[in-house]
Amino acid sequence: MQHPRGVAGLTPGGVSVWTRDAIVRLPPDEYRAISALIDEAGARSARAQGLPAPITSTDRLLEDQRLYLACSDATRPRGGPSVLVGILKVGPKRLFVAKPSGGMEEMEPCCVLDFYVHESSQRGGWGSLLFDAFLQREDRHPARLAYDRPSPKLVAFMAKHHNLRAFAKQNNNFVVFDEYWSEE
Ligand code: ACO
Repeated sequence: MQHPRGVAGLTPGGVSVWTRDAIVRLPPDEYRAISALIDEAGARSARAQGLPAPITSTDRLLEDQRLYLACSDATRPRGGPSVLVGILKVGPKRLFVAKPSGGMEEMEPCCVLDFYVHESSQRGGWGSLLFDAFLQREDRHPARLAYDRPSPKLVAFMAKHHNLRAFAKQNNNFVVFDEYWSEE
């Protein structure tokens, strides 16, 4: 996921965080460059998860969502190229969740909505870099999040890095780990 143009604000070898507002305020050339990268990552993520359409694109980024972008150290924010390795999209969602003790609860947790690392870089620590940058910046606990349709790779990732395994299946495809209730 590479664009010849550099986008100011990308972090070579690290993670930058973007909102819809920050993206639309970019100068036209930089807007086009970052949009091309985000849209390609969104399309690849959908393909990797077997989804019919991308969840992430520049146009679909809502005002209350944050998009974390991990860039390789080949990235040159001024002049280019921009080399995107992975994306993580998070934001609030109003959900009805079945509690392990029975009954439903209406809640609005922060949700992991889309998470993707390019195939050539998976299992190289980029996913952890993105996820930890998000946890730290927003002061979140992984158990107090909801996960939209987690793939088998994400389930393995959460077990390995955050020791989160048990969850009850919900009707809405979101996963809330059992620890959500004990971390309350
Ligand atoms: N098979 C099984 N587990 C995997 C795989 C795989 N092919 N790839 C990563 N993992 C899990 C494992 O626990 C792995 O540890 P291990 O190598 O010791 O088994 C761990 O993730 C590796 O951690 P990182 O290197 O930090 O993570 P990575 O850079 O691979 O990013 C991610 C994880 C984002 C899930 C990535 O594998 C990916 O993009 N997968 C394809 C898209 C996807 O499934 N995204 C999640 C969708 S669900 C949602 O967004 C809410």
